[in-house]
Amino acid sequence: MLVLRPPAFVAGGFFVAVFVLLSFCTPPDSEGDIEMDHVLIFDTTLRDGEQSPGISLDVAEKLEIADQLARLGVDVIEAGFPIASEGDFESVEAIAKAVSGPVICALSRTGFKDVDRAWEAVRHASKARIHVFIATSKIHMEKKLKMTPEQVKAEASAAVARAKSYTADVEFSPEDGYRSDPDFMCEVCQIAVDNGATTLNIPDTVGFAVPGDYGKLIQYVIDHVRGDYVVSTHCHDDLGLAVANSLAGVENGARQVECAMNGLGERAGNAALEEVVMAIKTRSDYFAGLDVNVRSEELARTSRLVSRLTGYHVQFNKAVVGRNAFAHESGIHQHGVLSDRQTYEIIDANSVGQEAAQIVLGKHSGRHAFADTLEKMGLHVQGDALNAAFVRFKELADRKVEIGEADLEAIVAEELGTAIVHRFAIAELEVHGGTASKPTARVVLTSPDGKVEATGNGDGMIDAAVAAISEATGVHGKLSDFRVASVTGGADALGSVVVQLETDDGTKVTGRGVATDVVEASARAYLNAVNKVVRMHERGDTREAVVGP
Ligand code: KIV
Ligand code: ZN
Repeated sequence: MLVLRPPAFVAGGFFVAVFVLLSFCTPPDSEGDIEMDHVLIFDTTLRDGEQSPGISLDVAEKLEIADQLARLGVDVIEAGFPIASEGDFESVEAIAKAVSGPVICALSRTGFKDVDRAWEAVRHASKARIHVFIATSKIHMEKKLKMTPEQVKAEASAAVARAKSYTADVEFSPEDGYRSDPDFMCEVCQIAVDNGATTLNIPDTVGFAVPGDYGKLIQYVIDHVRGDYVVSTHCHDDLGLAVANSLAGVENGARQVECAMNGLGERAGNAALEEVVMAIKTRSDYFAGLDVNVRSEELARTSRLVSRLTGYHVQFNKAVVGRNAFAHESGIHQHGVLSDRQTYEIIDANSVGQEAAQIVLGKHSGRHAFADTLEKMGLHVQGDALNAAFVRFKELADRKVEIGEADLEAIVAEELGTAIVHRFAIAELEVHGGTASKPTARVVLTSPDGKVEATGNGDGMIDAAVAAISEATGVHGKLSDFRVASVTGGADALGSVVVQLETDDGTKVTGRGVATDVVEASARAYLNAVNKVVRMHERGDTREAVVGP
């Protein structure tokens, strides 16, 4: 646990020095009499988060998440790593063109090809950043880069200068910074600042840090690297300390935190954005004088969207955004909360968008009420996608009496995804199963070339439905992942299924489906994946392996 000591940054000279050094691009606001210093929230859900095993988002999905991140009010969106694949490039470019508000950032290694590609992708953003990184730890330089320290310095210098020739906003990261020799790391950081870097990000790439030490390292950088720059944290969660380490960094002068929604990221993930934000907001007594721009009421919705699109379900007891984060089980707690919520709650559920799910629509609601509700929820759906979503809503309303916000989000997300990659759609699905006979399925699909019908059988009803769809579409592959969860509680809850399909040529896609019946949800998810494969093949695209970091 983070051992909290009196905040160093409120003490006299240090605070003034850090304030002057670091606040040049984040002018302080005033809140009452107190000068507020902003901690910038740099979201890396779409870059480091997407590096989580099994996550593969397409352009439309990344755009949807980026839009929501902008609504949430993050300061920077790291949209991707453009050199990694055509898909990554396209996503960063699409986000740079369409999403306004936050700075849009692209990651780059030090090679000029990388830097140029990063700039090409991000240049349309009204506020564009290039994030250059190179490792500075002995083990990474020797074993991975096979470079001498002198070569690393030269690489950092040239790459930052090249990035600076494109944009004023350049970030530099000495990868594996925490395990690097601090003096050498500072030397490389100094070179980066001298060549124009305006943000210095100090990664704990392998999640090895403990809070006291990481805080000291941030302080060390501030003390040893001259110039105007913002210091940033980037902590991985291998020891479950990513949030604590990030906050220790803030306590010692960092004014940008790199984090990801639901704590997604390489291996055990990155610092969870929602936890960092709510720690700073909730403990404003401790983090006195500090503020974040994030609109915390959007946290729960952002978390649900990211969870649905990535297929990474949020654990029930997850801080801030978990289903149980505001549930009270024991009688004593319930009694206390009924007389005053603050007896057992330190965060107001409404302040993170976790208010009790309201029943928004039912079977008798019309198209107008449906469209109006979606608009109020911030879901801008029009044209064919709106029509398709309304049809799904009506189907659902026939089977489920109460339709809440989470249900609506789920069906709209599915229809939006389908509208973009639509080729085949389910017209009919009939599945027979049980313990006495081999499960069989019959499916009728519509496509621009007309209707196709096929049958299939399998070990279970889902397997049979998948076999029938493969037969009808001619797309065969291996299901490398299959996850089921319920969108809401109750016996008539919507089931949400996420599958990962890998075809023989190495194409890897994620498909999603929702329905009150889990076999139907699975068939929808599988067909969604098949549609993506067809689209990728039509464009001659396969998902390339992501290179570094
Ligand atoms: O963990 C890491 O070091 C990174 C860098 C690219 C910032 O993700
Ligand atoms: Zn990382």
